[in-house]
Amino acid sequence: MSGVLVNEDPFTQSIKEMKDIKQLLQSTDYDKQVSTKGWVRTKRGSKNVSFIALNDGSTIKNIQVVADAENFSEESLKDVTTGAAILVTGKLVQSTGAGQTVEIVAEQIEVIGKADAEKYPLQPKKHSLEFLREIAHLRFRTNTFSAVARIRHAVTFAIHKYFNDNGFYNIHSPIITGSDAEGAGEMFRVTTLDPKKPPLNEDGSVNWKEDFFGKETNLTVSGQLEAELGALALSKVYTFGPTFRAENSNTSRHLAEFWMIEPEIAFADINDDMDLAEDMLKYIVNYVMEHNLEDLEFLSQRQLDEEKSKPQHLRSMELIEKLKFVLDNSFERITYTEAIDILMNSKPNKNKKFAYLVDKWGIDLQSEHERYLVEKHFKKPVIITDYPKEIKAFYMKQNPDGKTVAAMDILFPGIGEVVGGSQREEDYEKLLTRVKEVGIEEETVWWYLETRQFGTVPHAGFGLGLERLMMFVTGMSNVRDVIPFPRTPKSAEF
Ligand code: 4AD
Ligand code: MG
Repeated sequence: MSGVLVNEDPFTQSIKEMKDIKQLLQSTDYDKQVSTKGWVRTKRGSKNVSFIALNDGSTIKNIQVVADAENFSEESLKDVTTGAAILVTGKLVQSTGAGQTVEIVAEQIEVIGKADAEKYPLQPKKHSLEFLREIAHLRFRTNTFSAVARIRHAVTFAIHKYFNDNGFYNIHSPIITGSDAEGAGEMFRVTTLDPKKPPLNEDGSVNWKEDFFGKETNLTVSGQLEAELGALALSKVYTFGPTFRAENSNTSRHLAEFWMIEPEIAFADINDDMDLAEDMLKYIVNYVMEHNLEDLEFLSQRQLDEEKSKPQHLRSMELIEKLKFVLDNSFERITYTEAIDILMNSKPNKNKKFAYLVDKWGIDLQSEHERYLVEKHFKKPVIITDYPKEIKAFYMKQNPDGKTVAAMDILFPGIGEVVGGSQREEDYEKLLTRVKEVGIEEETVWWYLETRQFGTVPHAGFGLGLERLMMFVTGMSNVRDVIPFPRTPKSAEF
């Protein structure tokens, strides 16, 4: 039997037994009958024959379905339009067309889900990333976003594999917390109190004792403090979860909800921490190059097309070349003090080209400074260590100089900071003093402090921003395009 059936129990064949398109494209079962399913990308052709490009997300490649006029009248293919979901049964044949090895000569096509051709917003043409953000519910169906999704999966898997293979345990740190790990106060409140008439104390302030948890709580900005508790028993742990920051910065690198990977290692110092971070980053990049080459090739071409109109000196390094470059070179390691020296004497600083001039030791580095160091001066990833204690978090280990802490930030070309980490202050008295100095309420971190009284050891860790790494690996220039459903100021659709 041949021809098109519409919505007629499409699941007569066990979908589970079907090969996906990735498998079929690699198959050499020529002239055997196969079935597969997916979404129509395009349909083109003539009176005699129609060619349907079908994609199911298993690979960036489409399989070509050939429907000849003998079996399929034009009328019978009218619902086989861009965006429709179809189930195809036919013969797998060696393809004569360029760029494909096999195709399916259709015997039967079932339309599982129609897509109103007038309304379907994804036309077979290039759409802008801005437009695609507005239709994030459909953008997975584009080559770009399916490639990004497959790579995000691969990066996630590689991270778990790296830690598992190296003796780390995954710790699930809480999402709701009563402490501010980074001490930056950029938190989203979690409450069940009535915003219109919250219970009040005698002095008019809100009585948080009556709130759900009996105290003020927020969405976590980091799982680090809890990871440290784990490391001080299990030696090597990591967290991998969503983190939330209410910083009102509408940049191409900031999200209000992002995913962070936070390893924590006991009996370790800042050097062990840097070695771990560099080794892990290279492992992930290598994993993606081995497992997602077709997606990377597509994204590389995308980036080349995108940057065609830019002058040569503003273009990025070709994507795959850039990834190889990171694998083949060790990261430059310099201190904050050395970085300030380089920046003070740099051309853009002397010519007043930086928006924030570097005029003294102690300033926080802006992204223009980080990018100068990475892209112009060293031309490779840079790890900056030993920052002034005033610009870093309370938990960092204080260096003997009394001015700096054993912090380390890793900066990548085109991205800036991908990793922020440090050795932790393991001395109870020093940590307590710092907690008081920066004005953290002791009762919100008593449990953290207490670990320094019971078998404290030198330990270190870092936080890797998954989306920042994804930007680097995919060459996508906006963080909103490497997470499926971005949360940014004034935007929480989908
Ligand atoms: O440097 P951060 O703030 O470090 C911490 O949170 C530490 N508790 C980590 C640790 O030592 N365990 O954040 C770590 C990384 C940054 O380097 C960056 O990659 C990413 O998290 N990040 C963001 N990514 C997207 N949007 C934001 N708003 C981000 N803020 C930080
Ligand atoms: Mg940081």
